[in-house]
Amino acid sequence: MKSTAVAPSNIAFIKYWGRKDPKINLPNSATVSMNMSNLLTTTTVEFSKEYKNDQITIDGENIEKESNRAIKHLDRIRKLAKISLKAKVISRNSFPKSSGLASSASGFAALTLAGTNAAGLKLNKRQLSTLARLGSGSAARSIPDGFVELKEGHDHKSSYAYSLFPAHYWKINSIAIITSTDKKTIGSLEGHESANTSPFYKKRLELLPKKVSLLKEALRAKDFIKFGEIVEAEALELHAIALTSKPPILYWNSGTITVMKTCENLRTKGILCYFTMDAGPQPVIYCLEKNTKKIVKELKKIEDIKNIIINSPCKGAFITNKHLF
Ligand code: PMV
Repeated sequence: MKSTAVAPSNIAFIKYWGRKDPKINLPNSATVSMNMSNLLTTTTVEFSKEYKNDQITIDGENIEKESNRAIKHLDRIRKLAKISLKAKVISRNSFPKSSGLASSASGFAALTLAGTNAAGLKLNKRQLSTLARLGSGSAARSIPDGFVELKEGHDHKSSYAYSLFPAHYWKINSIAIITSTDKKTIGSLEGHESANTSPFYKKRLELLPKKVSLLKEALRAKDFIKFGEIVEAEALELHAIALTSKPPILYWNSGTITVMKTCENLRTKGILCYFTMDAGPQPVIYCLEKNTKKIVKELKKIEDIKNIIINSPCKGAFITNKHLF
């Protein structure tokens, strides 16, 4: 009853921000994302009568808040599998967690796949995706391959993610730029809660369906400029909502802004690239694969940057036999 899964993080082109039903993380809108090949979580889960309590270790630490969220998810899995055994869980991220690089997406996707497999359940991708969504909304998108849409849905079963295009569909890279390794003080859960306190949120929801369909059109046409312009405007809109919520949330630091400006400058030199950011200070730059080296060279000149991680689109969560214990 031991199983290990690897899941990629995903950064959304069109973001999930605000929920129709917080109890089941039912999003207010559909979202679209791409899996990130080098932002990975590996998780081993073992259910056994040897364990008196659930033991959760993430990146060598046992932090109460994170453990409680993981235990709640194990409870969902136990309920589905009709078992009461306690579990040992060891999880490792290839990148800093809780810093705005969607470690909850890869984390809950890996926990869902490893946990259900260890509990003897054989769920299909749609079932895995809805279950992962209960742990963290964005985790639903780390189950399918490549370029992914999470359906808005109207209840638990109808809000699931599916692959729009496989990983090899388009040779674009996403460059994750670590401007700070500090844990963020305001998580995305607080952001979802306060989104509708922004005076601009209602308008955002009104315009989102059109934006999602334009983005999908740009992906279908592999129109990088149209794609990039939508993605960058969407990131700025999400942060405008965060900034105008009560209380306001400012996720950026000086490094974030320097990277945004660098992106703008590179475009004036004819090197196409566009940025996005999730709920944190780490920008992610999208570019055509062939331009990656030139962009990284420019980024390396920026003092504030701690690390640069280059990603290509990749498959979703998968099982491995390389157990962590
Ligand atoms: O899955 P959560 O609850 O961590 O929310 C994710 C929020 C954003 O990363 C900002 C947007 C998204 O769609 O991933």
